[in-house]
Amino acid sequence: MASRLLTSAIKGENMIRPPIWLMRQAGRYHSHYQGLRKKYSFETLCKDPRLACEVTLGPIHEFDFDAAILFSDILFILEALGVPLAFDPGPKLGFHLKGIEDLSRFSEAQISKHLNFQKQALLNIRSELPVEKALIGFVGAPLTLYTFAVAGSHKNADGLISMQGGLRDGRYDGFMRILLPALLDNILLQAQAKPDAIALFDSCAGDIDFDDYKNIYLPHLHTLLKRIKRGTNIPLIYYAKAIGQEHWEILKSLPFDVLGVDHHHSLKTAFEIMGEAKAIQGNLDPHVLTLSPEECSEKIDSFLLEVQNLPHTFRQRFICGLGHGVTPQAREENVKMFVDKVKALS
Ligand code: CP3
Repeated sequence: MASRLLTSAIKGENMIRPPIWLMRQAGRYHSHYQGLRKKYSFETLCKDPRLACEVTLGPIHEFDFDAAILFSDILFILEALGVPLAFDPGPKLGFHLKGIEDLSRFSEAQISKHLNFQKQALLNIRSELPVEKALIGFVGAPLTLYTFAVAGSHKNADGLISMQGGLRDGRYDGFMRILLPALLDNILLQAQAKPDAIALFDSCAGDIDFDDYKNIYLPHLHTLLKRIKRGTNIPLIYYAKAIGQEHWEILKSLPFDVLGVDHHHSLKTAFEIMGEAKAIQGNLDPHVLTLSPEECSEKIDSFLLEVQNLPHTFRQRFICGLGHGVTPQAREENVKMFVDKVKALS
């Protein structure tokens, strides 16, 4: 079989058009998902591998994306570590890491027991996915999981202050000692289903100062990535939101394969800084998919013109997507338009 487009792009060898997939491509904007949500809770859709497979494949069948991403959530690992978790519809954690005494409330996780539904869903998806489509597994990156553990979300200002304080009062270090082995096990569990890539989503990466990112966080991220690479050769996608060029400079030597870039940056700059060792994924503004089809069409065209104007060697390692996840307000016809326009590129 010829290599899947996503795999060719990750290797920097894609001579055809860019592959396209979107974070949250299965979600509330999509009538297929809403239909299933009328019958089942979000948790059931994630934890029943037959249903998770059905949700994952909905947007593949309807929009013909080049890759399917496991339908699940980054927060289930916290539940496996003993934190009660509910979705209402946003996540609600049973306790927060408010002080170092809370570290003793986490339990040692048996990841293969608690998160086996992710592996089983990946196996089910693979068996139904057309052979030319790639399959992507995912986890939350350590800083984002720490932010949720402390603050319960990344929108609440008091929580953010507490999260920053926790970097120095022992909460962060203690949490990393608990989380990193569990996260490694989670990734290796998904890897058993042989996805084409595994993404680490670091949506809260931009919530701390650059110096803290560099001196406090980067060593943990680096250790985790090295351990993953020792255990599997599945390519890794690192998506981080609200970080910039100075972060990319220090990230480029880390052992991951694709950098996911948010919509506040130029793709060309990302390629220039990251060099030949990494593919780049991104970065249409998700808001564009909520506009009228006419406005959306114009914005997609100017984004794709930017892509077409990239040097050939950059385009060979480009994966088309959004700068963040699809929003519930996205219009289905715009999602379809985006995929179709990417497919029309040569
Ligand atoms: O990409 C995909 O199609 C896979 C699905 C996916 C979900 N969550 C399903 C979901 C992915 C990749 C995630 C990752 C995730 N989850 C992240 C990182 C990426 C990002 O969006 O920044 C984060 C921070 C979470 C935590 C989380 N889960 C939040 C903050 C929320 C509520 C916020 C919201 O979007 O409403 C969830 C719930 C959630 N995860 C839903 C879905 C489809 C909505 C559940 C529903 O009510 O139906």
